[in-house]
Amino acid sequence: MDVAVFSTKPYDRACLEAANAAAGRPHALRYLEPRLGPATAVLAAGAGAICVFVNDELDAATLAALSAQGVRLVALRCAGFNNVDLAAAAALGIAVGRVPAYSPHAVAEHTVALILALNRRIHRAYNRVREGNFALDGLLGFDLKDRVVGVVGTGRIGAVVARIMLGFGCRVMAFDPVEEPGLVAAGVRYAPLPELLAAADIVTLHCPLTPETRHLIDAAAVARMRPGVMLVNTSRGALVDTAAVIAGLKSGRIGYLGLDVYEEEAGLFFEDLSGQVIQDDVFTRLLTFPNVLVTAHQAFFTAEALAAIGEVTIGNISAFEATGVPRFPVSREG
Ligand code: NAI
Repeated sequence: MDVAVFSTKPYDRACLEAANAAAGRPHALRYLEPRLGPATAVLAAGAGAICVFVNDELDAATLAALSAQGVRLVALRCAGFNNVDLAAAAALGIAVGRVPAYSPHAVAEHTVALILALNRRIHRAYNRVREGNFALDGLLGFDLKDRVVGVVGTGRIGAVVARIMLGFGCRVMAFDPVEEPGLVAAGVRYAPLPELLAAADIVTLHCPLTPETRHLIDAAAVARMRPGVMLVNTSRGALVDTAAVIAGLKSGRIGYLGLDVYEEEAGLFFEDLSGQVIQDDVFTRLLTFPNVLVTAHQAFFTAEALAAIGEVTIGNISAFEATGVPRFPVSREG
């Protein structure tokens, strides 16, 4: 199949090329650097399928433009699909496939890396030591053992985070509309979200972004949290109301913030903007706090996850070509 690959980075190309080669090169992959949106949909001309990532924009107008050019499949090379108007895709007869679980461990382990780095202030220690400053003042951490970790969303990723934190000797609470009996057996206690927020020393978000979960962490949620709480979001930026979190950081209610995602990350993340003036004042304010650690949507970025992304994406396209349905289809129900 002819496939237009949007938002291509060298590592995307490498993993898709390897997977396509391993399958006997069934598809003609055309690599495009621009992000997909209404203005760039035209670049897909001639392709029957497109391959996109987290910050490509698949709203109704973009999907209509793609459909008019003959695109019949959207192959997401990610798990989340909040950037796709699924109702519009269904109405246009465009199938949508995704990579549901390329490596929950990659994201879970990065989440734990943020927790450990924030707690022991590794980001600050690294710079200090390089400057010959070996003082410990300001680097005080806390034992994770016996601390309460609140995991919001115990699907594939949240479940791995919960088990890792149990391994540290933490008390793990969870909120999810669907409880996982295996986690309960392992010692996780499910509780309503307000109770979790009030009890947790560390709150980590692993639920999908939906209309219901948008700004799940707003000013009211911040007010419910323990003073000095650590908040970590490696899921989707818009789960968090950034203005409310900045107010929480300024008041001290939030003691640590770890982000791998940001509500307005499209246009910032995945690009080298080091020579430019960043225009997003909310984001740059976040970067001024000593107790904030931001990574640019890299939680997924392991060799194992990339290999799986390539393989499942090529498999989705092949299955669609053979049967009209991708191997891992996305419907409005998920
Ligand atoms: P999953 O679908 O396995 O699990 C999501 C869980 O959230 C489910 O158990 C579901 O019942 C629960 N949930 C739904 N609504 C909820 C609510 N209102 N409150 C609490 N829980 C709720 O998804 P998975 O694979 O664990 O991924 C979670 C999220 O992580 C994805 O939606 C995606 O946005 C994000 N992600 C981020 C990556 C990164 O690189 N930073 C990479 C991959 C995924």
